[in-house]
Amino acid sequence: MATFLSRSWSDYELLDFGSGRKLERFGNVILDRPEVNARSKESMPLAQWRELAQVRFHEKGSQKGSWKGKTGIKDWHIGWSHGEKKIRFELELTKFKHVGVFPEQSANWHLLTDFLANEKAPMKVLNLFAYTGGASLIAKACGADVIHVDSVKQVITWARRNMELSGLSDIRWVLEDAFKFAARELKRGNRYDAIIMDPPAYGLGAKGERWRLEDSIRDLIDTSLKLLNPKRHLLILNTYSPKLNVLELKDVYNDVAGNERGMECDDLRMKASSGKDLRYGAVLRKVKY
Ligand SMILES: C[S@@+](CC[C@H](N)C(=O)[O-])C[C@H]1O[C@@H](n2cnc3c(N)ncnc32)[C@H](O)[C@@H]1O
Repeated sequence: MATFLSRSWSDYELLDFGSGRKLERFGNVILDRPEVNARSKESMPLAQWRELAQVRFHEKGSQKGSWKGKTGIKDWHIGWSHGEKKIRFELELTKFKHVGVFPEQSANWHLLTDFLANEKAPMKVLNLFAYTGGASLIAKACGADVIHVDSVKQVITWARRNMELSGLSDIRWVLEDAFKFAARELKRGNRYDAIIMDPPAYGLGAKGERWRLEDSIRDLIDTSLKLLNPKRHLLILNTYSPKLNVLELKDVYNDVAGNERGMECDDLRMKASSGKDLRYGAVLRKVKY
């Protein structure tokens, strides 16, 4: 069973977490930012956090806020690699406390790389809710034909810069509501060898239509299972929604698929240097070799 535990790597380290915050190193920049899942007490004294953190995010309301400290970071890039497959990310301090990469997705990128590696014929990979493209880049680095779907133009432009930074090309960018795109692909009879989905707990489609994941998860799983190449496939569905834990995700999946063959579902966690694991959300995977 492929691990659900992501670990720090040369360019990224989860140093500590607790009391609703996390301390992380991205390259040579150390950040202190909010983390709703960091419910335990931090392992390092807060004085040490203050000493280490070059930049700190101050929340104003649930989704926004501002960064304080050494905020003028220039040419801030990090790499990620698995075997000889290497990708790079351009990072930026955004007003949503995000920086342009979700390091906890590393365990999913490892599985995707292992699934695609050594494949002779180019595999077809669909990345839905694809953000700055971690999974799209690694799939392209493995020689796959990649479709990258997101409903926000800025993040697609950001993902394109990451593609160029990684020395890659020929990713197909789709600015659209992922649900609509997936449903249309099904109508068109297209099939994929790998589908990666990482929907937020709720969001807005390209035309501002509001949606909540717990209302749409059943259709999303149903459509994605039908879009998979029946002979050999990988499905990765990651959710950060507090409304969908591992058991609920398994129940919905069994309800749709009628069996658990090839399916595994568990918490996505990141190992901190302090030794504790930070739970981020739930991941459902279906693999058929
Ligand atoms: C949590 S991020 C995905 C992170 C991604 N897995 C990664 O590791 O880079 C969710 C993404 O979904 C996009 N999104 C939200 N609603 C969407 C929709 N209805 N259709 C397509 N993309 C959507 C957001 O713009 C955001 O980029």
